[in-house]
Amino acid sequence: MLRVENIHKSFGGLKVLQGISLEAQPGTITGIIGPNGAGKSTLFSAISGFLKPDAGSVMLDGERLDGLRPDLVAARGLVRTFQVPREFGDLTVLDNLRVAGSQMTDESILAALVFWRRTAQHEGEVTRRAEEMLQRLNLAAVADNQARALSGGQKKLLELGRTLMVNPRVLLIDEPFAGVAPALRDQLVAHLKGLRTAGICVLIIEHDIEAIMEISDRICVLVEGSILLEGTPAEVQRDPRVLSAYLGSAPA
Ligand SMILES: Nc1ncnc2c1ncn2[C@@H]1O[C@H](COP(=O)(O)OP(=O)(O)OP(=O)(O)O)[C@@H](O)[C@H]1O
Ligand SMILES: [Mg+2]
Repeated sequence: MLRVENIHKSFGGLKVLQGISLEAQPGTITGIIGPNGAGKSTLFSAISGFLKPDAGSVMLDGERLDGLRPDLVAARGLVRTFQVPREFGDLTVLDNLRVAGSQMTDESILAALVFWRRTAQHEGEVTRRAEEMLQRLNLAAVADNQARALSGGQKKLLELGRTLMVNPRVLLIDEPFAGVAPALRDQLVAHLKGLRTAGICVLIIEHDIEAIMEISDRICVLVEGSILLEGTPAEVQRDPRVLSAYLGSAPA
């Protein structure tokens, strides 16, 4: 179980996260919604090690993760995607997945030097899994293309695939539907539901309210660095505070 407790983060004088607490179980999808600038992406950075929180803790199955580097957090099974995909544009689509699957920590680099034969086996295994992932995400036809040539939607799929190569227990996905064409959107929805079935604990930030209501078990509404309310999609949808939180904020 993921347990985030009382996370604070400021940039200079700007208090972006003001005591965020949430819990999420394996095999569930938690939607995180809220106006632009509410602190949603910053929360993901604080949970995944890309930013060090000023206060608070992140626990995964009883192990403390806050303060660890992102690669060490990932090695413990918690990974995130970025709002703007961060593929390696010069690498092929297949190699993007292979790199993600063989990302090494200091410990595993040392192990690789000691057990070089096992490492060669490991690389073969990573390639096999990357090819499987290409099939699963319908990217096999573009496997050998440079990642920069993908459409916006395909880049989102690749970004998801790169995180899945880590075999995550917890997956934080930042705006998977932004800029994705309708045909790919349905495919993404199906993939995300599949992650829940696979027992992964999924947190999704999304402005596409219809999609997030459809796929989430629980919804957290984040406004000005605090959780305004938390509940089932039905509970959140009929709460008048949600509407006023959106109307009260300047549009993007
Ligand atoms: N590295 C940073 N340095 C300074 N300010 C930052 C930094 N990162 C984010 N902010 C500020 O923190 C606030 C929250 O940003 P954040 O990106 O978390 O919002 P968000 O809820 O993800 O918004 P959106 O829906 O537009 O993606 C914004 O005012 C932003 O300008
Ligand atoms: Mg954001």
